Amino acid sequence: MSGVPQQDPQKTFYLETFGCQMNVHDSEKVVGTLVQQGYRQVETVEQADLILYNTCSIRDKAEQKVFHRLADYKKLQAQGKKFGVLGCVAQQEGEKIFERAPHVSLVCGSASYQNLPGMLVQLENAQVESAQVEGKSSKSSFGRIDSHPSKTTKGGASSFVDDAPISIPAEESGSRKPDAGSLVRITGLDDRQTDKCFETEFTARTNPHRAYITIIEGCDKFCAYCVVPFTRGKERSRTSASVLAEARQIVDLGYSEIQLLGQNVNSYRDPDGKKSFAELLAAVGEVAGIKRVRFTTSHPRDFGRDIVCAIDAVPTLCDHVHLPVQSGSTRVLDAMQRLYTRERYLERIAWMKAAKREISITTDVIVGFPGETEEDFAETLNLLDEVGYDAIFTFKYSPRPNTPALQLEDALPEEEKSRRLEVLMAKQRDIQIARYKKYVGTAVEVMVEGYNEQRAQWIGRTTQNKTLNFTAPETASPKVGSYAQVLVTRSFPNSLAGEWISAAAHPVV
Ligand code: 5AD
Ligand code: SF4
Repeated sequence: MSGVPQQDPQKTFYLETFGCQMNVHDSEKVVGTLVQQGYRQVETVEQADLILYNTCSIRDKAEQKVFHRLADYKKLQAQGKKFGVLGCVAQQEGEKIFERAPHVSLVCGSASYQNLPGMLVQLENAQVESAQVEGKSSKSSFGRIDSHPSKTTKGGASSFVDDAPISIPAEESGSRKPDAGSLVRITGLDDRQTDKCFETEFTARTNPHRAYITIIEGCDKFCAYCVVPFTRGKERSRTSASVLAEARQIVDLGYSEIQLLGQNVNSYRDPDGKKSFAELLAAVGEVAGIKRVRFTTSHPRDFGRDIVCAIDAVPTLCDHVHLPVQSGSTRVLDAMQRLYTRERYLERIAWMKAAKREISITTDVIVGFPGETEEDFAETLNLLDEVGYDAIFTFKYSPRPNTPALQLEDALPEEEKSRRLEVLMAKQRDIQIARYKKYVGTAVEVMVEGYNEQRAQWIGRTTQNKTLNFTAPETASPKVGSYAQVLVTRSFPNSLAGEWISAAAHPVV
């Protein structure tokens, strides 16, 4: 197999991903990049030389998880393992991470991933350097690298437990000899002005059924509660030509389902000016061999009717739109700086309800935004009835660094946020029970995503993104990644169950 790099069995890495699909896909690119650099991915922290966390900072809880993970494994540093923090927490906290977790060697935000190969080389060289007891600070074009001396315990093994990092003043660097256990610190922290996308030909596609394509990175919306514009940089789109070229490659790899990704996927602007988002969506759906196209996440302000027209016109475009509303109250939407009103949002819902196929609609809701009154919350509750969502993702407002909402008064007590969350979830559960019931007795096409041994059921996914688990006779034995017609026999609040009817000779393309 020419072109596949020789793998040094010594260089192994473990990568854990937190957060959204953008992060999941970024991790696929990071894995591809590391493999290209001669690293081998391993399944456990214990097997790895380099331990990486691709992090999420959207809510405080997500951020804390990473620091817990780092604390859990810091003892492994004594074995010479290196730790790296990637993604949104890396970008947000920057070098402060070295203070909270001194055993971390690499901090790299997503806007700097294209520099990862160079940073890895630096990390490896610095390891060699520090082993040769030669410490110095240097700046490089792709990030910063410092070599910090660290305390050593009696036996000479490093112990960084609760140590604050020790910086070497510039004038001393190069003249001071650190201990053999020197901490290497490499940062890749481009600011939000970056124009670069993380385009790599080395994506390691780890999802066996669905291929992700990033079409736009970053966010310029600055919703009052959200860290994303600070962690992922400004909005930048890829050319439609490069997106379509990637879609064709994906078919060659054997995929039939594509998901277009962007923090605001429908804010897409072709740098070549050739295609609008709806046109690109349709063009991807028309690539020969593609059977399903999904896209996430859409912003209501930029959601044009042309997207619904594209879904009507191109059968491969899935019958599902995720359109985060955040609140049903225009007053709260205004305070959140969401750039639309309840009425505007409902107008978009009406377009989707008028579509030729039934489009399944899902959303995100935040409860307990500062100043949210009982009346505001009641408006969110009645919006659920009015729209009839098939799924909602619910969050308690979590104050985030740098965001304008931090300045707002009238923060709600945690208990009240929790109460509202419970009420919201209970209401949505009832709505879903009723909505899912109506599929019983119908035949639905699924993509086969796997088999659950315990339940002796195949796992299927409908074009509406619903899980439909089903039984099949042994003779049928559907293949993962193939399509099947399934008769829905039961419904649950979050999924459907049924029986295999036939392998689907896919009706489209
Ligand atoms: N607090 C709570 N939820 C948040 N989200 C984004 N920022 C916050 C925050 N500070 C939610 C929004 C968004 C989803 C990905 O996460 O609902 O759509
Ligand atoms: Fe965050 Fe708003 Fe941008 Fe979405 S649109 S990523 S919620 S700032």
